[in-house]
Amino acid sequence: MAKASNAANDQKRLIKIVVASHKGGVGKTTTTAQLGTGLSDEIVSPELGYVFLVDGDPQGHLGQYLGIGSTGDFADALLGKKPIPDCLAPIEAYSRLLVMRGNESTWEMERKFIQTEGKRGAQPLSKRLDALFNMFVDMVDDDKMALVIMDTAPSHSEIQIAALMVADYILCPFVPSLGGEMGTVSIWEWVRALKNDTQDGSKGFAVLPQMYDRKDEFQRRAMATMQHIVGPRVLPGIPYNSALARIMDTGMTVWEIEPLDKSPAAPAAARYTQVMEHLAKELGLTIKHKRESK
Ligand SMILES: Nc1ncnc2c1ncn2[C@@H]1O[C@H](COP(=O)(O)OP(=O)(O)OP(=O)(O)O)[C@@H](O)[C@H]1O
Ligand SMILES: [Mg+2]
Repeated sequence: MAKASNAANDQKRLIKIVVASHKGGVGKTTTTAQLGTGLSDEIVSPELGYVFLVDGDPQGHLGQYLGIGSTGDFADALLGKKPIPDCLAPIEAYSRLLVMRGNESTWEMERKFIQTEGKRGAQPLSKRLDALFNMFVDMVDDDKMALVIMDTAPSHSEIQIAALMVADYILCPFVPSLGGEMGTVSIWEWVRALKNDTQDGSKGFAVLPQMYDRKDEFQRRAMATMQHIVGPRVLPGIPYNSALARIMDTGMTVWEIEPLDKSPAAPAAARYTQVMEHLAKELGLTIKHKRESK
């Protein structure tokens, strides 16, 4: 375990990615789980000490997705009710991955905060969230970095706004469909507003098309609309993958299932690898070896 070091140095050793969209069912949790498991592999990003996955969604899907169920750990950690290490669960197959699970207590915590402490001008949730993430740095060795990937709810909430405020990078999954751009556009507007507020032009942003079928004309048109709105910030799309659609609750990842899906039109692991390479470049990480599906 590393000792606490100074705050400025800690900031350099902490990367915060927030996965967000105001639209439900677009692959936020899936993306959080795939990128978390992929990037926590030592062969991929050697400078990362731990990858911390945080479930900011009261639905509690992230833990369920990874096969470890949902708990109130996120609300407990944010309120300081339990020591941080007790709010983090390991994942057996991934030794550098720790998961802070959520459940409906996140919603309860948010509601109480707004009605009581928030009204009295207590420290805002964004400051608490940032403080929580900074504590993760103390859990990695001095020469390593901590990467946080936070999953968020599809609804517009205090926690989601706090997450968008503290994020270094916002990744917005998007299922190309007619009108489907709205959940992404509202996040993009937030990103632009936050940049103006803070004069911080360094907040990264990308749209990740999900369940994309490039042969579908309507989907292609929706992609063109998105490219028109956010420009070059649209990443290569993750195709629809029938095996990915079935693995909720199993704890399996794209790195394990891809070989089961023989369709050459479904290279989801290859596409997620491209997304990791893109993120690594944007965030100053090295990709040591290309991640191949197991
Ligand atoms: N590339 C894909 N191919 C096929 N199915 C996918 C793909 N990505 C995600 N899915 C499936 O789509 C469904 C929704 O995904 P997911 O739960 O990740 O979305 P979400 O945005 O987190 O949803 P919510 O808004 O409820 O939190 C899940 O059943 C998931 O398995
Ligand atoms: Mg989800």
